[in-house]
Amino acid sequence: MKTINDFEEYDDLENAENSRQRPSKTHSHGHSKKVPLSLQAFVQQQDDTRRAFKFTYKAARFEAWWLLDSLGEFYEHQWVADVLRRVKGGKEASVYQCQAGAAVASGGLLAAKVYRPRMLRNLKNDAIYREGRVDLNDEGNSLFKDADVHAMQKRTAYGEDLRHTSWIAHEFTTLQNLRAAGADVPAAHAMTRNAILMDYIGDLGAPAPALGEISLETGEARQLFKRVLDNIEIMLSQQRIHGDLSAYNILYWEGEIKLIDFPQVVSPTGNRSAYKIFERDVTRICDYFTRQGVRSNPRQLASDLWQRHGYQTRPELDVRLLDGDDPQDRALWQKQKNGR
Ligand SMILES: Nc1ncnc2c1ncn2[C@@H]1O[C@H](COP(=O)(O)OP(=O)(O)O)[C@@H](O)[C@H]1O
Ligand SMILES: [Mg+2]
Repeated sequence: MKTINDFEEYDDLENAENSRQRPSKTHSHGHSKKVPLSLQAFVQQQDDTRRAFKFTYKAARFEAWWLLDSLGEFYEHQWVADVLRRVKGGKEASVYQCQAGAAVASGGLLAAKVYRPRMLRNLKNDAIYREGRVDLNDEGNSLFKDADVHAMQKRTAYGEDLRHTSWIAHEFTTLQNLRAAGADVPAAHAMTRNAILMDYIGDLGAPAPALGEISLETGEARQLFKRVLDNIEIMLSQQRIHGDLSAYNILYWEGEIKLIDFPQVVSPTGNRSAYKIFERDVTRICDYFTRQGVRSNPRQLASDLWQRHGYQTRPELDVRLLDGDDPQDRALWQKQKNGR
């Protein structure tokens, strides 16, 4: 855990340096900050076990270590043979274009989504999404040990680690589940504590653009709008709401779409904010397609979809989700009891 903190500090430093100026030739030697001991130990240990993993992508120093930690296991299992380039660097995760290893039958390119150390910090704001969902450990199984759940609630270092893994496991299992149900999502191949390996959408030169980055002709827009709604319905049928759906989390490639970015997925039941989150997803999609010439009524549409899948517009409150010390929660509960 100490190492994670060191990593985050170092990550920030490297980022600041990267954004200040274009990296100079001496950049990788230019860190004024001393590398913490725990990081040095970490690197030492990695050197012993994963020495062979050398990749084409020229990563900065911290980033190279983090990639080794996050993707080393993929390399060892021959899921990944090489990291070719960074496709996107985000606040919480970066996505890398990789060459598939021998263990991937389809071969070709893969995308590795690698979470950054700061992800641990941002989990502080995740309460609204976590409500009512089962926590998963790194094999995607429900956490069952009381001690684990307790650690998470108490936010011990070990607990923070579990929460982090749970978040990634949710994205991974959601991709797998939705794909099996027929949704347009990239096939997910493997996960580690920090990363998810999935099909790469795009070609060697560039990743697929997001819908939000392109304009569509009205005919195609109409067709894709229907397709997105079909996907939303598949998600509902699998008890899932994307939670951050927008034209920027839908990739477009050769006339097809792929929905991505699922860590914040929520359940339509068991979360008091579920309908609000769902309506926001639908509205964002409708707004994009309105700009592409396809009009709709987002509120009506959201409500129709919700009810068609058997959910109540005001989802029934699960008493286990209410906080008896919260006056607002007590009022909600009272209202619901009276309404029956
Ligand atoms: N499977 C993929 N193939 C190609 N590019 C991808 C893939 N997954 C993600 N990307 C690119 O990386 C970006 C960030 O990924 P995303 O999962 O949306 O994470 P976040 O938005 O949380 O940083 C996407 O907007 C997209 O450009
Ligand atoms: Mg995204």
